[in-house]
Amino acid sequence: MGRRFKKKVSMRIPLVIMLFAIGILPMFLQGRLLLTSLRQNQIEARILEIQNQALILSNQLTQAGYLSGEVTDTLLDSQMDVLADVFNGRIVIVDSDYQIIRDTFRLAEGKYHISEEVIRCFRGENSSKYNRDKHYLIETFPIYGAGSQGRIDGVMVVTASTASILNLTDMVGEKTTMFEVMALIVMVVGILMFMRLYMGPIYAFQRALKRFAAGDMGEIHVDDYRETKEMSAAVSQAFTKLREVDNSRQEFVSNVSHELKTPITSIRVLADSLMSMEDAPVELYREFMVDISDEIDRESKIIDDLLSLVKMDKSAGEMNISQVNIGSLLELILKRIRPIAKKRNIELTLATIREVTAEVDEVKLSLALNNLVENAVKYNREDGWVRVTLDADHKLFTIKVADSGIGIPEEFQTRIFERFYRVDKARSRETGGTGLGLAITKNVVQMHRGIIQVNSVEGEGTVFTVQIPLTYIP
Ligand SMILES: Nc1ncnc2c1ncn2[C@@H]1O[C@H](COP(=O)(O)OP(=O)(O)OP(=O)(O)O)[C@@H](O)[C@H]1O
Ligand SMILES: [Mg+2]
Repeated sequence: MGRRFKKKVSMRIPLVIMLFAIGILPMFLQGRLLLTSLRQNQIEARILEIQNQALILSNQLTQAGYLSGEVTDTLLDSQMDVLADVFNGRIVIVDSDYQIIRDTFRLAEGKYHISEEVIRCFRGENSSKYNRDKHYLIETFPIYGAGSQGRIDGVMVVTASTASILNLTDMVGEKTTMFEVMALIVMVVGILMFMRLYMGPIYAFQRALKRFAAGDMGEIHVDDYRETKEMSAAVSQAFTKLREVDNSRQEFVSNVSHELKTPITSIRVLADSLMSMEDAPVELYREFMVDISDEIDRESKIIDDLLSLVKMDKSAGEMNISQVNIGSLLELILKRIRPIAKKRNIELTLATIREVTAEVDEVKLSLALNNLVENAVKYNREDGWVRVTLDADHKLFTIKVADSGIGIPEEFQTRIFERFYRVDKARSRETGGTGLGLAITKNVVQMHRGIIQVNSVEGEGTVFTVQIPLTYIP
């Protein structure tokens, strides 16, 4: 899983790009668009203004009879100069001989100006040309003769530059760019902070998981944010379970080896002491051999129990289900145990409240119930009793095994179902227990989708209750 996650870490990059695109791109595009249209507007307004002013001037020139020969109106001349200045350009007046009679630059007076625009203007076609690349405007205006109405006596050529507008829009552009760069920085910082905020806990979580995977079974706590807090709580819970399983597994292994070794150690001690004795009496041999045989029995019981547990763990699905009369099964079990009970004068009874036939694995269930009844006898007092009852409703059948025995202290009641767990180690040893019986019983009950409960008062007795569905649920 760690490896898969590593491959997908690059999710950070698409996220950044996405945020970036959402945040900065529209702003950037809008800025550029606005700037272009602003420039366009400004230029158009400027052209219009120049045209108006120039038209007024050309009218004035017409009215003053500027081209009549006696050029005396110095006011008009200076007005022309001022206008050319304002336009940041040049005004040239050409007479009907195409000779320049007035140039605000004073460079070309007396020279000829024969250009397409001028010729066309004399023909009555006004022309207006804007050079987009060099940012200037050439416009021609007719000047009419004083007396003769309608005759074009001269042409005013106005050249004006719009470079100043460009300067203005460039300035605006610079400001916009500056603003955009600032926004970009803010955005990047924001994104980084967001990533830290948003992804940080996830990475912390990932690190914690990796540590866990590497074998550090410590706590996982990423509590900085609510989302990860919940997540880490859930994972912590899962890990606690895992840790418990791990612990119980380790305990189980050490218990197994201990339990398996104990009888062998006894056998070895018995055998060694016999061998060290010269001329040991036959009775002693016999006595020791009986002990050795008991220990071998014990060892083989432990191995049998372990094997049946392992088998159940492995083949949980392998249930040999058939219709079984539970009452008869219980009678059989009681019959087997009765001789042991009799030895200590323990009364062993079965009460069948309702006849029950259920779908169960007969061998497994018999193993489980046998252990319950055996325990009830084993952990009982002299002259005590064991009462087994069988009942059922429309869904479940219930078996209760009650005894008048030593009882189980409250604090051990949850632990007795663990493998190898025994409340009183010395006593269990005496009675030949290994502590696997209830683990097997619980396993079997659970394989039948049933439940097992214990109710016990120390010194008074114990009741084990088993409830199993009448029809097997695979
Ligand atoms: N009816 C009971 N009354 C009192 N204590 C009980 C009773 N049943 C079980 N116990 C306690 O629970 C422990 C676990 O029982 P369990 O059947 O698993 O093991 P065991 O009887 O000691 O050994 P095994 O059944 O493997 O031979 C027992 O050692 C005993 O201390
Ligand atoms: Mg037992």
